[in-house]
Amino acid sequence: MTDQNKPEKVQKTQKINGVRGMNDLLPADAAHWAHLDHVLRDLTRAYGYEFLRTPIVEATAVFQRGIGEVTDIVEKEMYSFEDRLNGEQLTLRPEGTAAVVRSVIENNLLYEGPKRLWYTGPMFRHERPQRGRYRQFHQFGIEALGFAGPDIDAEIILMGQRLWDELGLKGVRLEINSLGQANERAEHRAALIKYFEKHQSQLDEDSRRRLLTNPLRILDSKNPEMQTLIDGAPQLLDFLGEESLKHFNAVQALLKANNIPCKINPRLVRGLDYYNLTVFEWVTEELGAQGTIAGGGRYDPLIERMGGKAAPACGWAMGMERVLELMKVSGSLPEAQAQCDIFVLHQGGETLTAAMIIAERLRSAGIDTILFCPPDGQSASFKSQMKKADASGAAFAVIIGPDELAKNEAQLKDLRGTGEQKSVPLDEVLGAAIDALVGASE
Ligand code: HAM
Repeated sequence: MTDQNKPEKVQKTQKINGVRGMNDLLPADAAHWAHLDHVLRDLTRAYGYEFLRTPIVEATAVFQRGIGEVTDIVEKEMYSFEDRLNGEQLTLRPEGTAAVVRSVIENNLLYEGPKRLWYTGPMFRHERPQRGRYRQFHQFGIEALGFAGPDIDAEIILMGQRLWDELGLKGVRLEINSLGQANERAEHRAALIKYFEKHQSQLDEDSRRRLLTNPLRILDSKNPEMQTLIDGAPQLLDFLGEESLKHFNAVQALLKANNIPCKINPRLVRGLDYYNLTVFEWVTEELGAQGTIAGGGRYDPLIERMGGKAAPACGWAMGMERVLELMKVSGSLPEAQAQCDIFVLHQGGETLTAAMIIAERLRSAGIDTILFCPPDGQSASFKSQMKKADASGAAFAVIIGPDELAKNEAQLKDLRGTGEQKSVPLDEVLGAAIDALVGASE
C-alpha cells in the first residue's frame, strides 16, 4: 500500500464531520421534502411524464461530451476519479440531462416514438458552498425527447409555472432567450471574438482564455467589472435566421396565449453547451446570489452528439434546495404534521407487554402509533411520558398502568380537543381508538 492510500489515523473518539457542502436531510425537514416529492409526482402524472432513474456515477465521457469541455462544470466542478479496481474514469453526475440521454440511447427508448421523462436525485458539483449552492444538491428534471415543435417548449414551461403555483412560490420570473442554430452561433461567435478582441484589456483571466475556445461563455460571466463590456457585446438574437425566429416567436405566442409572462434576456446563454433555440430560466430576487431556481431549454444536437440517432429534445431541471428555501420565504411550507395518531404509555413490566400488544393491534388497523420506550430501559413517570406524547402531536394517548391492567382496562385520553379521559376494556381499545380518531377528524 502506498502512503497515499493509507487511511488517515483518526483518534477513536474524535468526531468525524460530513463533507463540506454536502448536507444531511434532518428529520425536521423531511416532511417538506416529502411534500415536494408528492407535488412533483402529481405534476408529472398530469402531463404524462414517465420516471427514469440513472446511476449517480457515469463514465466521465458522458459529461465531457454531453455538457461540453469548455464549461465551468467540466473544467472545474466535476467529482471525477479513477476506479482503482479497474481503471475506469468515472464521475459523480453533476446534472441529469447527459445521463438521461446516455440511457435513452443505450436502452433504445426512442424506438417506439418520442418520450416524456422525469427524474430526481442528488447531483454533485465542486463549487464554493454558500446559501443555495451546495456540492451535493438535488434536482428534479424533465426531458421531452423526440419532439421538434415549439409546442413542447411551451408545454414544459407551462409545467414549471403550474409547479410554482402549486407550491405557492412568490416572486418567480421567467427569462427566455434563443440560442439559434450552430451556423447562427458561428456568425455570432465571430462577431463576439472581434468585439472582445478589441477590448482585450478589459477581459478577466477566465474570459481571455475563453475568447478563442468558447466566447459565448464570456456572456455568462458574473464578474461585476465586466458587465458593461458584456452589455455592449453583439447579441445572438440579431444573428438568428428566419426558422429560428419563427420557433422563438411561436414559443412566446403559446406562452402568451396561456397567460405566462416572460422576459426576453438576450444574455441568457446557460452554463452547458448542449443547447440550441429556446433556453430559459426561472429566477427570483428572494434568495440572494443563488436566485436561479430552475433552468433548461432545447438541446436538439445532444442525442446525436452522444452517439444516438439524431432526435430533437428539450427539458429543464430545478434545484430542490432552492425551491424549498423559496417556499420557506414565501410562507408556503406545509405545517408540521403529527408523528403519529396515538401514543401509548405504560409503566414497564406486564403493562409494557400489554401496551406493546395494543400498539401492534393499532398499527395493523392502519393507525400510526408510537409506543413509549424509556431511554434508560427501565420505566418513566406518566408525567414525563405525557410530555413526549404531547410533543409527538398524537391526537390520543392510550395509558396502561398497573391499576388499569389489574382491571383489564386502559385509559384513552384526548390530547388535542377536550382533554377528556375514559376507561376502555383492553379488548375494546382498537374500536374506541378508531371511533375517537374518526370523531376528531369530523
Ligand atoms: P443547471 O442550470 O445547471 O441545468 O441546473 C439546474 C438547477 O439546479 C439550477 O437552476 C439550480 O436551481 C440548481 N443547481 C445547480 N447547481 C447547484 C448547486 N451547486 N447547489 C444547489 N442547486 C444547484 C441543468 O442541470 C440542466 N441539466 C437542466 C436541463 C434539463 N436542461 C435541459 N434539460
